[in-house]
Amino acid sequence: MSAILLAESVTVKFGGVTALDNVHMAVEEGEFLSLIGPNGAGKTTLLNTITGGVTPVTASLSLGGKDITRLSTHHRIKLGLALTHQIVRPFQSMTVQENVAFAAGYKKVRQILSSFASVNRAREMKKAMEFLHMLGIEQYKDQEVSKLPLGVLKRLEVARALAIEPKVLLLDEPLAGLNSQEAGKLADTVKSISLKGMTIVMIEHNLSEVLRVSDRLHVLDNGRNLAQGEPAAVMNQPEVRAAYLGS
Ligand SMILES: Nc1ncnc2c1ncn2[C@@H]1O[C@H](COP(=O)(O)OP(=O)(O)OP(=O)(O)O)[C@@H](O)[C@H]1O
Ligand SMILES: [Mg+2]
Repeated sequence: MSAILLAESVTVKFGGVTALDNVHMAVEEGEFLSLIGPNGAGKTTLLNTITGGVTPVTASLSLGGKDITRLSTHHRIKLGLALTHQIVRPFQSMTVQENVAFAAGYKKVRQILSSFASVNRAREMKKAMEFLHMLGIEQYKDQEVSKLPLGVLKRLEVARALAIEPKVLLLDEPLAGLNSQEAGKLADTVKSISLKGMTIVMIEHNLSEVLRVSDRLHVLDNGRNLAQGEPAAVMNQPEVRAAYLGS
């Protein structure tokens, strides 16, 4: 099988710190891959390199067989990438529905700020409702995001990313900060999106949920590839256990 998303030979340095050292990651079409590893392993840096937020020392990146290594973030999003952030960052002054509608219009325009002035606003507001429904937060549609609890904000992040209608959905700790019941429910929701055919890469520290929903794991430790494969088998590898015990 050929990978829909391929990151090869990724090396990233921040000043004197080597955050990623010759990392390779392949993602197959339709799979639910979890990217795990101790704090500081380089997980967020890898996804940020894939979306173009971080400039690598070396890397070869492709999406759907197309080389994206030198493309702008905007262009990579247009080609089918969407990323949610570890720290949620919606537009505070917009309502929940407006935030998702804004994302729905993003791919069409060059200037981010003109996105919302687009003539298609009504269509995008309608489209937004589909994604609010998928995430189970349609009842919050008219609320300003500044007043929402974290559980709703985490779902809003996923709805905004889906509204871009990506080929690959990249999630950075969607369950972080949620209680175990909320985390379980959101993991179920993300799994249901995966079962509809979406390719997903999820960074997550909640290993019980990771093991429950993932098709495959990819483990980073200290900026290097440590293991990858079937979830239970990966978690049984001594070097993976050691990395977690040592952290
Ligand atoms: N902008 C930055 N400037 C300097 N160093 C950075 C920057 N971003 C990340 N790092 C460093 O790069 C390394 C990898 O960080 P990264 O955030 O990718 O790890 P992570 O696996 O996402 O960790 P966590 O699970 O805590 O989110 C760490 O040593 C971190 O301190
Ligand atoms: Mg991180």
